[in-house]
Amino acid sequence: MQELKLDLEVPLHPRQSEATCDSTPTPTVSSSKCSTVSTNFAEPFAVIGNAALYHGDCLEWLAERAPQSIHGVVTDPPYGLVEYSPAQQAKLRSGRGGVWRRPPSFDGHQRSPLPRFTTLTTADLDQLNCFFRRWAARLMPVLVPGAHVVVASNPLVSHLVAGAVCEAGFERRGEIVRLVMTMRGGDRPKNAHDEFPDVTVMPRSGWEPWLLFRKPLEGRVQDNLRKWGAGGLRRRSPERPFADVIQSAPTKPAEKRLAPHPSLKPQAFLREMVRAILPLGEGTVLDPFAGSGSTLAAAEFVGYRSIGVEHDLDYADMAVDAIKRLRDYRLPASSPASTSGSVSK
Ligand SMILES: C[S@@+](CC[C@H](N)C(=O)[O-])C[C@H]1O[C@@H](n2cnc3c(N)ncnc32)[C@H](O)[C@@H]1O
Repeated sequence: MQELKLDLEVPLHPRQSEATCDSTPTPTVSSSKCSTVSTNFAEPFAVIGNAALYHGDCLEWLAERAPQSIHGVVTDPPYGLVEYSPAQQAKLRSGRGGVWRRPPSFDGHQRSPLPRFTTLTTADLDQLNCFFRRWAARLMPVLVPGAHVVVASNPLVSHLVAGAVCEAGFERRGEIVRLVMTMRGGDRPKNAHDEFPDVTVMPRSGWEPWLLFRKPLEGRVQDNLRKWGAGGLRRRSPERPFADVIQSAPTKPAEKRLAPHPSLKPQAFLREMVRAILPLGEGTVLDPFAGSGSTLAAAEFVGYRSIGVEHDLDYADMAVDAIKRLRDYRLPASSPASTSGSVSK
């Protein structure tokens, strides 16, 4: 197997050429809080244990990253892109208007805001496809052959994301089904509830797709594992393969208090995913849309090296403490994830 260097020492690489998207404009971000240009990536924004967090745009970061220096990706990108634009974030933070909707309270509890994906226009969907094609094209060279990439998605847009990533040359390796009851769907015809009491407009969702891809191998799986430490997924134990359905639950309020990001994913699930992404337990995991740093926290828990990139300064700031707090978070005994309480390191 190739010697694995500590990633912080891997030199940055000059920008490489990439497959360009057609004439569809890519969403641009202009805000003092979100940097898309000329960020100095020579130094991380923060280093927490074996996790390095960069502040900036991941497309820029990927363009500068040394080739073949990342062994797996676990990430939760903005599903619709627009919801994490500065304009929509300002609306979310002011609590007024925009793509974020605050669901009605339930059982006396105020629920977290959710992005309204059904409002995406055809132009938004074109932008989404274009963005992921560019993103995947830039991701490809920085990965070692056989590296797996897991992308959190949503049943409404997952086909666009999967198509775009495959167009960049990745192999589709199925989906991980996160069994979780979200509050999406299950609704009744608007302003006609009484007239159509037996109608559900969209199924109440009970799962979340995490799309799974692999960079093509060099030779056979065994050759690739020896040379690059990638090509497969880590088994849960010698007897138990990694499986593609994971029982989960919405992120617990206690966890949200440690990392108040609107899209925080639970450690119980992330620890399982992150552990699985490095088949030999060696290498570096990347989260290019790091948010609160929850993937990096899971990597810290499992004992892997990790890198995150986050373009919103408020979230990057939040991540510095959140990574430590989430790493040390003890899962409740009632956690439904099958092996979450005992994810081995
Ligand atoms: C869905 S959230 C991820 C939340 C994360 N799963 C967590 O548990 O905290 C997506 C994140 O990606 C960030 N983001 C969006 N576009 C980005 C870009 N081009 N480069 C880097 N970060 C980006 C957003 O600011 C947001 O924090």
